[in-house]
Amino acid sequence: MNQVKGRKIVLGVSGGIAAYKAVDLLRRIQDLEGRVAVVMTANAQRFVTPLTFQALTPEGVYTDLFDAYRPGAMDHIHLAQWADLVVLAPATANLLAKAAQGLADDLLSTFLLACTAPRLFCPAMNVRMYENPALQANLDRIQERGGLILEPAAGSLACGETGRGRLAPVEQIIESLQGIFSPADLRGERILITTGCTWEPLDPVRFLTNPSTGRMGFALARVARRRGATVTLISGPTHLAPVPGVEHIPVVTARDMEKAVLEAFPRATIVIKAAAVSDYRPEETAEQKIKKKEERVTLSLVQNPDILRRLGRLKNDQFLVGFAAETEHLLQNARTKLEEKNLDLIVANPIGVPGAGFAGETNQVHFLFPDGEAEKLPLMLKEEVASQLFDRIIREKGKKA
Ligand code: CTP
Repeated sequence: MNQVKGRKIVLGVSGGIAAYKAVDLLRRIQDLEGRVAVVMTANAQRFVTPLTFQALTPEGVYTDLFDAYRPGAMDHIHLAQWADLVVLAPATANLLAKAAQGLADDLLSTFLLACTAPRLFCPAMNVRMYENPALQANLDRIQERGGLILEPAAGSLACGETGRGRLAPVEQIIESLQGIFSPADLRGERILITTGCTWEPLDPVRFLTNPSTGRMGFALARVARRRGATVTLISGPTHLAPVPGVEHIPVVTARDMEKAVLEAFPRATIVIKAAAVSDYRPEETAEQKIKKKEERVTLSLVQNPDILRRLGRLKNDQFLVGFAAETEHLLQNARTKLEEKNLDLIVANPIGVPGAGFAGETNQVHFLFPDGEAEKLPLMLKEEVASQLFDRIIREKGKKA
């Protein structure tokens, strides 16, 4: 679920080289239909001009305490009341010191004192400045008062040094915003998710697989993380970018996946098996590339372990969710899998229906429950399917407790 939509966000930009990344952040928030007003310090304006932001946001750019005299502009008190959230990106050492002390000597620091909305500080600076005990004490102080800090990333810094100090990636800042606006109703849950296809090699350059991209499982991981869960995502080969804050375990074959799942299973409270596991693998994998010699070749395949069936036998109080990808008899086949694999819920996923199934951004599914209940959901984004699924899991777990 997109929790940023319609939110009023004040983007506070202070003077560091990462200020240019704040422009991208603003665009990303707008892509999610969030509203952004920008407050810039004097030094920020030396890196990026107010005009850049002005051209992009109808909510306005504020640079000094007396902006309020502009027609239609808000003063710092109104801006403070308007904001649902404040994100400080980049937050310089100076801004952090002022915020920690409650100093109010320009618009941004004065606004911060007047504003009671949640605030997310995204520090960016030289690594030794970041590691300085005085700076760290300021971060502690901000956190003690409820401020949120998004750690900078490690890497090469604009000053030529290497270390922790790069502004957290925009994707991570966006995920944090989504998390701040989401209910924390999965806090305390340890959720194990599998996703994507598996590759079953015939020889060093060929393999059997299917078109699953892993999108559904990545959406599940993102939503679970936003709602406060600890998430492990075991994924077959995929081009999707890792989800910030989620433990990623990449695997290749069904047997790799089984090993990784069995290892993680005892710690999990909820398991969701969205992976499209290859049911069969070649009986033999050739060590060298198979050469084109025969007119006709017959492959001998053997069955892979059914990971979910095994979990159904092993489970203690884990809540177990399966997916059923079907081209026919959707509900009937899904119900058989629910029963035979000893699941608590199954997501029936039609294949071949426009907008549903593999690869796309959307899905159209049914939820089936052990008591015979079945629920058809409309076509929706995979993140929305994920959100609906977690609502049902929480409800069903509540009934069991
Ligand atoms: N699954 C699994 N291990 C397998 C095959 C499937 O864990 N070797 C899981 C899938 O992740 C999914 C569920 O079982 O959650 C159903 O997968 P699906 O491919 O729809 O069904 P199968 O049980 O393989 O049955 P069939 O292929 O005959 O439809």
